[in-house]
Amino acid sequence: MRTIAILGAGLMGHGIAQVFAGVGHQVRIFDQDPEMLSSVPERIRSNLVPFVELGLVAREQVEPLLGRVKPCSGLADLCQGADMVIEAVSENLELKRELFAQLESLVPPQTILASNTSAISIGLIADGLAHPGRWAC
Ligand SMILES: NC(=O)c1ccc[n+]([C@@H]2O[C@H](COP(=O)([O-])OP(=O)(O)OC[C@H]3O[C@@H](n4cnc5c(N)ncnc54)[C@H](O)[C@@H]3O)[C@@H](O)[C@H]2O)c1
Repeated sequence: MRTIAILGAGLMGHGIAQVFAGVGHQVRIFDQDPEMLSSVPERIRSNLVPFVELGLVAREQVEPLLGRVKPCSGLADLCQGADMVIEAVSENLELKRELFAQLESLVPPQTILASNTSAISIGLIADGLAHPGRWAC
């Protein structure tokens, strides 16, 4: 069991949370928009309806899966005990760079930092940060 932290709870972030929780990981998630954050459980629950109907997820697994997704109060809370942090905020280089600079100060050097960027160079996002070897995209 590993702890996965997800920054951004929009279309991608909540879906990434669902996938990791679905295979048994503990998931922490944060979004600056309180409504996006608070709606994560209901959005995942809704996503799971067709999976349950098709027999791909057992009905009795839905609540335990949701129980593995913990909404967090901020970046420091998000990073508590995280083995990997996946950024899924808006597609904006300066925003991502700013957030990774903060994340880097909150996690130990071995924590994997990853971006879900669609098209921004991971090298540009990581440029100037202290531990480039731990980056993933
Ligand atoms: N939507 C897709 O099909 C898709 C596919 C592949 C990759 N991506 C990439 O994934 C990333 C997220 O895309 P999305 O579609 O989920 O976007 P989205 O707009 O649905 O979600 C982005 C979330 O980031 C949050 N956010 C913005 N600034 C923040 C901050 N400072 N702190 C915390 N949260 C913040 C917003 O409140 C929002 O909920 C982007 O880089 C996008 O390019 C998207």
